[in-house]
Amino acid sequence: MLYRKYRPKKFSELIGQEHLIKTLQGALMVNQVAHAYLFAGPRGTGKTSVARILAKAVNCVDYQLEVESGRLKVGDSLEPCNKCHICSDFNHGSAIDLIEIDAASNRGIDEIRNLKESVNFAPNICKYKVYLIDEVHMLTKEAFNALLKTLEEPPAHVIFILATTDSEKVPDTIKSRTQFFRFKHILNSLMVQRLITIAKSENIKVPEEALNLIAQSGNGSMRDAESNFSKLVSFTGQNVSLSDVQEVLGLVPFNFVAEFIACLSAKKKNEAIKYINHAYESGVEMDQFLKSITDFFRMLLIAKMSPASLVAYKNELPGEHMQLIANYAVNFDPMSITKALRIFLNAGQYLRTSPIPQLPLELAVVEFLDSQ
Ligand SMILES: Nc1ncnc2c1ncn2[C@@H]1O[C@H](COP(=O)(O)OP(=O)(O)O)[C@@H](O)[C@H]1O
Ligand SMILES: [Mg+2]
Ligand SMILES: [Zn+2]
Repeated sequence: MLYRKYRPKKFSELIGQEHLIKTLQGALMVNQVAHAYLFAGPRGTGKTSVARILAKAVNCVDYQLEVESGRLKVGDSLEPCNKCHICSDFNHGSAIDLIEIDAASNRGIDEIRNLKESVNFAPNICKYKVYLIDEVHMLTKEAFNALLKTLEEPPAHVIFILATTDSEKVPDTIKSRTQFFRFKHILNSLMVQRLITIAKSENIKVPEEALNLIAQSGNGSMRDAESNFSKLVSFTGQNVSLSDVQEVLGLVPFNFVAEFIACLSAKKKNEAIKYINHAYESGVEMDQFLKSITDFFRMLLIAKMSPASLVAYKNELPGEHMQLIANYAVNFDPMSITKALRIFLNAGQYLRTSPIPQLPLELAVVEFLDSQ
């Protein structure tokens, strides 16, 4: 799997989380590492990767020598060396002083009691023992309470990193004892750049337009995009075409959606319905098609409110797509766009239960055009 092979090994390899990484690196370099962190954010945005790099940095022989040397200046960005025996243990996944716990499958008080006992033992090889508790929001109330006591007074050789995709569910008492870092969804433009790098190093030939679709399929998660890319390559081999992406991932190319929207704008009911069926027959998932249609109308709405505001989305949309949307916006009035958005959003409710997958979209077309 590409997402395992390309797991970032140093801070600079992470994309889209610059702000948080700068803060973290700054604190590490002046030896002010906190004893508990909370990493919150969507899946596949780098929480586990950053946690492992952090654990590596506080233990890396070279890194710590540099920190203690007093040579570092503000603005330097120090990285773990990835050469010493500690770094190499971390990179091989065999660092025994990094203890990873999946709270989703170890939710109870007993697990936390075990953890509390083991916390008191000194690290085996490293300076710090690092406990990474993933999906921490899944812990039971009792388990949280037990954890709280340890978080209040952890032994000096211990660092806790709690990670969660749902920080709302983490009690405030836990939050107030940790340093909070919020991970963001990753922008498509950044994902595409990373996919280009991966494709190059894997000798995969793939047009950028196809990578754009793969990035979109990640919905903000780099891991999902990379895992879709792996899936695709295992199917197509080293040459990936745009239509491969469409077929394997059940996705819709931008131009296809644009043509469909053009039918709506020209009030061509039959044509529009043909597009839906053509998409269905060529393997496009109807929920993906619906998502692309709603995305398109949303962009039209933004363009309509003020064409200049489209520029703010330049990270989500390539330039030529933006131009096309600006052109389309001229042919729609704002009322029809909001109407279309409501109708297509509504169609989404019926997608899972409809015995005929295309039907909810066909109905939406009819309803929309009849209202025009
Ligand atoms: N910010 C990022 N920059 C670069 N790659 C990333 C990033 N986030 C995730 N990835 C890719 O996805 C994989 C899984 O990321 P991970 O750190 O486990 O995400 P999380 O813990 O937030 O679910 C990584 O191995 C890497 O290939
Ligand atoms: Mg993770
Ligand atoms: Zn090292």
